[in-house]
Amino acid sequence: MSESVRAQGLTQKIAQSLVYLCFMQLSFTLDTIKEAAATFWQQLGDRKVVALHGQMGAGKTTFVHALCDAKGVTSTVGSPTFSIINEYAYPGGQLYHIDLYRLKDEEEAIRTGVEDCLYSGSICFVEWPERAEGIFPDDTLKLHISATGPETRLLLIDEK
Ligand SMILES: Nc1ncnc2c1ncn2[C@@H]1O[C@H](COP(=O)(O)OP(=O)(O)OP(=O)(O)O)[C@@H](O)[C@H]1O
Ligand SMILES: [Mg+2]
Repeated sequence: MSESVRAQGLTQKIAQSLVYLCFMQLSFTLDTIKEAAATFWQQLGDRKVVALHGQMGAGKTTFVHALCDAKGVTSTVGSPTFSIINEYAYPGGQLYHIDLYRLKDEEEAIRTGVEDCLYSGSICFVEWPERAEGIFPDDTLKLHISATGPETRLLLIDEK
């Protein structure tokens, strides 16, 4: 193997481990979801928009509800698009829980008012972000939730 090929391999390995270091992982069950939600809030920092990736039934909605509980959400603010955009009030602010599953594309998301929420400065949790990938702010935090057992879920947080 030539020196340059060896160096290339080494660079790749370093890059891979850096990528790995950028991730935060949380494994939780319904019994420990409260702690997972609290840890997540500590990690969120200044980010406002969180895209939740994961298959149907992975636990996206359940986790968002745990996040709302941890934030002290007290009420739902009624909205005409409530099956897509849910607005919740918590002490000190409001946040959006958005589910794009039923939307076709970015155009429909914009028409429904999703883009306005994403750039409103309020915290937004968005399920099925794949439906309208192009309208998300650059600093959107990406979460990946997957079922690792009947009761366990693995949350990967992309810090990039
Ligand atoms: N650790 C866990 N975290 C979250 N949900 C869990 C966990 N263990 C079991 N579950 C169950 O998995 C299901 C997750 O459903 P949920 O509606 O949250 O999924 P979803 O990812 O939002 O699906 P969809 O894409 O259809 O909106 C619920 O029935 C929940 O009770
Ligand atoms: Mg859901």
